[in-house]
Amino acid sequence: MKKILVTGGAGYIGSHTVVALQEAGFQPVIVDNFSNSKESVLDGLRSILGAEVKSYHVDCNDKAAFRQVFEQEGDVAGVIHFAAFKAVGESVQKPLAYFQNNVGSLLVLLELMQEFKVNNLVFSSSCTVYGVPDALPVTEQTPTKPANSPYGRTKQMCEDILRDLSQAPGNEVKSILLRYFNPIGAHPSAKIGELPLGVPNNLVPFVTQTAAGWRQELTVYGVDYDTIDGSCVRDYIYVGDLARAHVVAVQRQLDGKAEDVEVFNVGTGNGNSVLEVVGAFEKVTGQPLKYRTGPRRAGDVPAIYADATKAAEVLGFRTEVGLEEALTTAWRWQQTLKNE
Ligand code: NAD
Ligand code: WQD
Repeated sequence: MKKILVTGGAGYIGSHTVVALQEAGFQPVIVDNFSNSKESVLDGLRSILGAEVKSYHVDCNDKAAFRQVFEQEGDVAGVIHFAAFKAVGESVQKPLAYFQNNVGSLLVLLELMQEFKVNNLVFSSSCTVYGVPDALPVTEQTPTKPANSPYGRTKQMCEDILRDLSQAPGNEVKSILLRYFNPIGAHPSAKIGELPLGVPNNLVPFVTQTAAGWRQELTVYGVDYDTIDGSCVRDYIYVGDLARAHVVAVQRQLDGKAEDVEVFNVGTGNGNSVLEVVGAFEKVTGQPLKYRTGPRRAGDVPAIYADATKAAEVLGFRTEVGLEEALTTAWRWQQTLKNE
């Protein structure tokens, strides 16, 4: 069994990817400092997989501790690097923490990968690198725009670092940059899912918490955009589909098919408006959702969705789960949570 280190593997996307890796016959090993996740995620994983998943409580910025993981594990075939901070608003308040954690951890990881001759990396990038695109859908060739938050800049900087590294003489690390669109939903078992701390910034957790009575009402941020119904449009991808994209990317590297650096959009190829998400959620739950329309949220991109052709043609990756099914799993997961 090929061993894959999964940094941030206890987090939202990481935990679903751990399931997908194990189900595909890999041996995932989690490295997480639990700064934005709970150790109870490991119970959920054990319950889904019927086996213990190996996990290290380690900060990727702690090079000595992280080196011990490489030493102890020995034969690591590849790494998926999810570990990062991801709150756009917080990154404006604490830019240095974001650069330190997101850029710093990548540098530490790459140095250790070189030291231990681990040459395959899959990196979590984001559609945020496209900023406000000039044309839709966005392809991997769509020019990136200056980031409008320190968080977005960390993803652009990490992408640049990986491209520069690929040009360095003697470099052997190959990387696949996956630009995720908007991941939503949870494992169908409702044993793992998204764990937003405090008031969620993201749409779907806010919607499910409103339906659960934790929040009074959803505010739809802006209904005066030049879109189908005036609300913003996004490409909502089911987290289980997104997880599978990682398995396919890892496999491509292990098959020796990957180039030095490759970039893939990981989205459905479809855009949905905020009001369409609300409508789909109401359909799924059979109940009206309390919402009001409000002003635009600063920094929001009016509309963005992926051209998913490259991932389909090169990786053979296609999404399978639609918006309503994804929202069904998000709602099921919400109903397992306690309002702490
Ligand atoms: P998450 O916060 O749920 O998971 C990140 C995990 O990394 C957490 O378990 C956290 O404890 C861990 N972590 C953070 N810093 C660490 C460090 N220094 N050392 C060890 N562990 C550390 O976030 P997520 O939604 O699963 O996102 C995973 C990745 O995908 C991130 O890189 C994020 O930027 C990227 N991404 C997320 C989205 C999204 O909407 N969720 C979209 C695009 C890209
Ligand atoms: C989706 C839509 C909101 C909450 C963010 C990051 C991006 C990426 C994914 C990591 C928008 C609207 C939301 C609410 C609303 N993350 N909304 N009421 O903004 O597309 O992207 O997460 O890389 O970098 O910026 O996602 O879920 O916050 O918002 O009307 O209470 O829902 O305005 O149009 P977003 P989101």
